[in-house]
Amino acid sequence: MYTLINGKEVAASIKKEIASEVEIIKRNGKKIPHLAAILVGDDPSSQTYVKNKVKDCHEVGFDSTLLTYKNSVEESLIISKIEELNTDSGLDGFIVQLPLPDHISENKIIQAINPDKDADGFHPVNLGRMVLGLPGFLPATPYGIMELIKRYKIETSGKNCVVIGRSNIVGRPVSILMSQKGIDATVTVVHSRTTDIGNIVRKADIIIAALGSPGFVTENMVKEGAVVIDVGTTRIRDEKMRSGWRLAGDVDFENVAPKCSFITPVPGGVGPMTRVSLLRNTLLAAKQNKI
Ligand code: GUN
Repeated sequence: MYTLINGKEVAASIKKEIASEVEIIKRNGKKIPHLAAILVGDDPSSQTYVKNKVKDCHEVGFDSTLLTYKNSVEESLIISKIEELNTDSGLDGFIVQLPLPDHISENKIIQAINPDKDADGFHPVNLGRMVLGLPGFLPATPYGIMELIKRYKIETSGKNCVVIGRSNIVGRPVSILMSQKGIDATVTVVHSRTTDIGNIVRKADIIIAALGSPGFVTENMVKEGAVVIDVGTTRIRDEKMRSGWRLAGDVDFENVAPKCSFITPVPGGVGPMTRVSLLRNTLLAAKQNKI
């Protein structure tokens, strides 16, 4: 029988911890942590993500500011706004929701962010700190995954971990965190150019699926007793849902789960942990700002 990793529950308890820290900050008359989010365009998933981030801030007692721009906004305008936020002493951290429209360079935008206010941990300075094991902001999804592994006391030392996907915001950073000292997994990253992914994944003690392809990880790719972390969040049509869609993970949960020791559901697994990680980074930023 497998253990279902309940990200929703873990995230709720971390939120409570954060909310009580905010209470203490307020009681001491210090500045309340403040996160801003920049949203460009009208992508429905991005709109939902950002709306939820603002809601999360409200729930734990943070201040939040939402800045929205039309899809056609010029890159230079966003850069100027970032430069303004970089030195805004009322603001502890901010994020720019990705993806951005094609005419805006994500790299340029990310590099314009002050690394000390980079609540998403996407700036090269924060990624560099992560690689070196120095304190800094960790990207939200990898941070959330590591916290789930810690809280469920999943054995990682010497285990074979296969990460499926090499994105800058999930696959690549989580592969680095899983191999760091203290975690000590042996990590393989597989991607769209890997030959015979199935054979490699079958040897994994821990599978982290982050490629965004619903149901990609099937029963025959999973070893008995494996730990499966599903990062996929693809919207697929589902007439049975009131919204007309549902979130689908990268794992064929129904058939894979019986073979696992631990598995995350979608929704309710990694997603809530990603959201709470952003709050943790914002609180850290606020503390560094000597509130
Ligand atoms: N798009 C998908 N995930 C993320 C995230 O964690 N942060 C931002 N800013 N954009 C995203």
